[in-house]
Amino acid sequence: MRQKIVAGNWKMNKTLEEANILASEITGMVADEVKGDVKIIFCVPFPYLLPIKNQLGNNTRISVGAQNCSEHESGAYTGETSAAMLKSLGVPYVILGHSERRQYFGEDAALLTKKTDIALKHGLTPIFCCGEPLEVRESNGHEALVKKQVEESLFHLDADTIKKIIIAYEPVWAIGTGKTASAQQAQDMHAVIRKHLASKYGQAVADSIAILYGGSVNAANAKELFACPDVDGGLVGGASLKSREFAEVIKGA
Ligand code: G3P
Repeated sequence: MRQKIVAGNWKMNKTLEEANILASEITGMVADEVKGDVKIIFCVPFPYLLPIKNQLGNNTRISVGAQNCSEHESGAYTGETSAAMLKSLGVPYVILGHSERRQYFGEDAALLTKKTDIALKHGLTPIFCCGEPLEVRESNGHEALVKKQVEESLFHLDADTIKKIIIAYEPVWAIGTGKTASAQQAQDMHAVIRKHLASKYGQAVADSIAILYGGSVNAANAKELFACPDVDGGLVGGASLKSREFAEVIKGA
């Protein structure tokens, strides 16, 4: 049975003071209210990784993650943050290939393959994002596109390595729109991803890989989404910025 994972993607939000308050409030609610062994990840802006990690201390249920890393090892790449730097901070997770980075920063399969490889090289756990825009879903091309996204950037990995990846299926048309995929739509696409993984690596390896759903997850829909057999938790945007809402999402896992 795969462990449930609920990751909050804070994106480019909060001041340091607000971030500390948010993390502290969620941590308290989790300690008081959340049963079970759900893994919680705060994916915070780069400047907040160390302050929030330090605030969490030796909390075994909540970790921090970055929202990106460079494909380069080091060097003259002004403004970039490397996987080695994240590792040196003790950051275990990194989101890669979020649709906003694909859209606004031109991240393509070749670049994301390099980012995945360098993150793994430095012992980070990538949360690799995939998902289709509305026009692709409306033309019934979503299964082919998502399988292509996974294949192009991950299928060069061997079986032992692919098991280290967390995949996040985030239909672009559900991100930030309030138009959440239905539980059936999420389950259908997660099953497509898992079947595609099994076609390459076998069912046992495919069954070991966590596939998270992202796209307007909230307190009202989390429980139904997370109850789907191939939905192993969520990658949560807006709802992760509100402590009570995010705590209720976590309780749905
Ligand atoms: O990475 C998660 C994010 O893209 C989902 O955003 O606001 O729709 O939960 P939101």
